[in-house]
Amino acid sequence: MNERFAPSDGLRGRVRVPPDKSISHRAALVAAMTSEPARIRNYLDAADTRATLRAVQELGAIVQGDTAELIVRGVGLRHAQPPPGAIDVGNAGTLMRLLPGWLSFQQGQSFKLDGDDSIRRRPVDRIAEPLELMGARIDAREGRLPPFTVHGAALSGIEYELPVASAQVKSCVLLAGLLTDRTTVLEPIPTRDHTERLLCRAAAALERNGDPESGYRIGVGNTDELELDDVEIPGDISSAAFLIAAGILVKGSRLVLENVGVNWTRTGFLRILERMGAIVVGETEPAGALVTDEPASDLDICHGPIEGTEVQAGEVPLAIDELPLLALVGCFAEGETVVRGAGELRVKESDRISTVVEGLRGLGGEIEATPDGFVVRGTGGLRGGRLNAHGDHRLALLGAVAGLASDDGVTVVGMEAAETSYPTFAQDVAALTP
Ligand code: S3P
Repeated sequence: MNERFAPSDGLRGRVRVPPDKSISHRAALVAAMTSEPARIRNYLDAADTRATLRAVQELGAIVQGDTAELIVRGVGLRHAQPPPGAIDVGNAGTLMRLLPGWLSFQQGQSFKLDGDDSIRRRPVDRIAEPLELMGARIDAREGRLPPFTVHGAALSGIEYELPVASAQVKSCVLLAGLLTDRTTVLEPIPTRDHTERLLCRAAAALERNGDPESGYRIGVGNTDELELDDVEIPGDISSAAFLIAAGILVKGSRLVLENVGVNWTRTGFLRILERMGAIVVGETEPAGALVTDEPASDLDICHGPIEGTEVQAGEVPLAIDELPLLALVGCFAEGETVVRGAGELRVKESDRISTVVEGLRGLGGEIEATPDGFVVRGTGGLRGGRLNAHGDHRLALLGAVAGLASDDGVTVVGMEAAETSYPTFAQDVAALTP
């Protein structure tokens, strides 16, 4: 589906962005692992998170209600039931990499996972390695790609240093470690900590030591049962980021995004924007000890001039999903915007270094790819044209924002990709431009 986004007048008013995708996946999974009913309010109604609800139902959980308020009746930690066919994760990398953590300790049971064409290109060896060290067996296509089968076993605890800064891998190992005597994940560079917060909330024996600069040691184990009460999911900062960028770039904008999740492990993009001189005001969370809450705040955004910046490797994981958008913002900045140490972008829903560079160049942007990032030369604006989303939701949404801020507008080829995280983007823009 092609959709055209014309140059926009200032975005003004207030909207509520969709619920957080990362937290929605985790809430459904952890609820399915409990034995008592759990209530989840404000669950994301999008293709990726619907795949998670279908998956937990296929494994035996009962899901009632609608996304405004779901009741999940879980099967308990040890009793996931293997469905007859493969579990279809669709396009959802987080589901594909977290679910095996739980399945790996279903002793004597096997579970096959598969997904769409994009998922079939995304590596699973990064979770297979630690799960096999713990005693599970993973059979993957060519040893590293979906479809793959998880053969559950009684697991032993491990101490595992993350070879890539990935919250998905960390979360998978922490889930797998629940029944072990003790499993420790060493995380040299912090990544999003939603799994840790939710497991603590569900009364798992989990602790975190360390600090953001020297890294964390996260220990888990000896957890016989999980209990989850009500979970309320805040707005998704990664979806909000598109309207934040639009507000900064489109002249005359002044908007408020309500109830956005501001967990400090997700707000790296806001810190980078602040350095660029952008005006985004809200009550963000400072880095600190592990808490069980997911804080939220209204964010007030205003159009204004911005300057280029350099993003270093240590900042990358806390802004990973917003880096494509940063490339777009960089096109409008004064001076150069450089991102380094972001090779992980190459294994997302698309190779986001190649697709962002190709996409923005096609719109008149001056941007070069590097092996682990990109260099953008800001020219104060963007001509417009056509951008191919390559089946990647963040590319589709980036193209839409580029259109709003461009001289000639942008036609996004493959706008349906946005269904996986932000199906209501065009409506939200319409509400802000009456
Ligand atoms: C996610 C972690 C990140 C991120 C993805 C969601 C999560 O992936 O890019 O969109 O919910 O844990 P990695 O852990 O592979 O970096």
